[in-house]
Amino acid sequence: MFAKVKPNTQIIGQNIIYFNQVDSTNQFATELIKQNLAENGTVIVAEYQTMGRGQGGKSWISEPFENLLFSIILKHVTNSPSDPFIVNKMATLAIHNFVFDLLPHEQVKIKWPNDILINNRKVCGILVENNFTGHKLNYSIIGIGLNINQQYEHFKHIHATSLGHFLQNTLNRETLLNQILESFENTYDLYLDGLSDAINHQFDKSLLGYETNCLFETENGISPGIIKGCDNDGRLIIEMDGREKSFIHGSIKQLIS
Ligand code: BTN
Repeated sequence: MFAKVKPNTQIIGQNIIYFNQVDSTNQFATELIKQNLAENGTVIVAEYQTMGRGQGGKSWISEPFENLLFSIILKHVTNSPSDPFIVNKMATLAIHNFVFDLLPHEQVKIKWPNDILINNRKVCGILVENNFTGHKLNYSIIGIGLNINQQYEHFKHIHATSLGHFLQNTLNRETLLNQILESFENTYDLYLDGLSDAINHQFDKSLLGYETNCLFETENGISPGIIKGCDNDGRLIIEMDGREKSFIHGSIKQLIS
């Protein structure tokens, strides 16, 4: 499986490492970088992870041979300081755009900070692990868990879904991975070209609840608010109680139906 993944790209996925089983593709990527063996754009794909990592120290569990589990290594060459959250935005936007193009008639949104939702159900989780020296970003490992063919029965109690559920088909994961890596490179090019404004703008516009009335749960209870965007440090900006407030990840929960 995955032998036919040969994306039409310059950088992303020109080197691909496959595993039937690995602890975590993000962990393997970290080790590769530490040993100085990672080329920019290297992709690590696994059928199954024994210790898949999710956001906030949670684990990521996925049935073997059903979904896509992979990590992309980006080695940054510029010496200039960058917005700490720009790679997270770029990567999330890339996957959002891919799913959006595939399902133009569904509501495809980014749930801040890094989830992709179809009709309010999570289809993809993204774990970006950045390595900084001071303000200089050295490398990023972008771990992506995208639900493809896993049976809907597994998901219905956990507010998740899969691409196959919407396309009513068993999808070819090799074909999809080729397309994802090509789509990723398009958004990566915006980043390489220094077009942070375009990334910020598209990211904000794709947020679930952008410029609409939503409910949020904070330590002070449930409050209405309007999402205005996400700042350079990755904080969510919400108009609440007549003024703009910013929230770090974990300090607020957007309530969705
Ligand atoms: C989340 O919690 O939403 C993020 C989940 C990220 C899971 C992916 S699967 C491939 C990569 N390797 C990991 O260990 N985690 C990420």
